[in-house]
Amino acid sequence: MLTDLQIAFIGGGTMGEIIISRLLATKTVDKPELIIVGEPVAARCLDLEKKYGIRTTSSNLEAVQGAAIVILAVKPQVLASVMTTLKDKIAPEALVISIVAGASIPSLCQGLNHAAIVRTMPNLPVEIGHGTTVWSASENVTEIQRSLTQVILQALGQEFATQSENYLDMATALSSAGTGFVFLYIEAMIDAGVQIGLTRTQAQELVLYTIAGSVEMMLQTHEHPAVLRNKVTSPGGITAAGLYELEKGGLRTVVSNAVLTALTRTQKLSNMS
Ligand SMILES: NC(=O)c1ccc[n+]([C@@H]2O[C@H](COP(=O)([O-])OP(=O)(O)OC[C@H]3O[C@@H](n4cnc5c(N)ncnc54)[C@H](OP(=O)(O)O)[C@@H]3O)[C@@H](O)[C@H]2O)c1
Repeated sequence: MLTDLQIAFIGGGTMGEIIISRLLATKTVDKPELIIVGEPVAARCLDLEKKYGIRTTSSNLEAVQGAAIVILAVKPQVLASVMTTLKDKIAPEALVISIVAGASIPSLCQGLNHAAIVRTMPNLPVEIGHGTTVWSASENVTEIQRSLTQVILQALGQEFATQSENYLDMATALSSAGTGFVFLYIEAMIDAGVQIGLTRTQAQELVLYTIAGSVEMMLQTHEHPAVLRNKVTSPGGITAAGLYELEKGGLRTVVSNAVLTALTRTQKLSNMS
């Protein structure tokens, strides 16, 4: 639990609200008044105050005053102006956690003139506490601040620290864009079920539980996927016939190309910012 630490959010949009709601739902933060959000839209502020009992302000400077942790949750296009306002205004001993896609640690350190920066990449299921967040810290982040980061990110699901920031772009391609790839596969399987005669409801339930069961089996057995796949692939059998079509259609290459293209796009956007 983050006892008595003031947390400032810069930006109270979709991601900001998700993190606030998870921090409060998991009792990671037990006093809502310890959270303050810097957000320009008055109606949004009112909504957040009513829903969560937190404090809000239209002034980012006011938000960071006295904050032990500052969470940057604005869109990349407004980051530069936000950093200009906050430069030299965040307490040197505070930890800054950024969820802004593509904003590198050196650019955040320089833009804010602040040494302790953690850059994160959360994916969509953080919304329900089953997310995956990969993170990397600047050299000046202390052990205590690393632990605080873990406590915050664990409220959103699994967290993985990486030594090098390069891995964050890879994580974006695999676990963030990857969420979209998985949903497309799920959609394709459901459509295939409908095509062979199942109702959409039946197909959806079958596909979801098949995927959930397969994932759980891998998590529990730690087996290589090929080992588990071979268990259901009897010689000349039904699964073998279907797998042949997937291989013939280039499934592995298509997936690999999708991840590679997503990585290239992420790196390009990172360079542009
Ligand atoms: N959505 C995702 O799944 C996801 C996943 C990983 C990372 N991210 C990253 O998370 C960040 C936030 O994304 P989001 O989806 O939460 O965006 P969002 O809903 O647009 O939230 C950003 C919020 O910041 C506010 N804002 C704008 N200018 C501001 C300023 N000068 N000071 C303080 N607040 C300001 C916006 O207000 P207005 O509405 O007035 O602009 C909005 O409420 C992005 O950098 C994105 O790359 C998102």
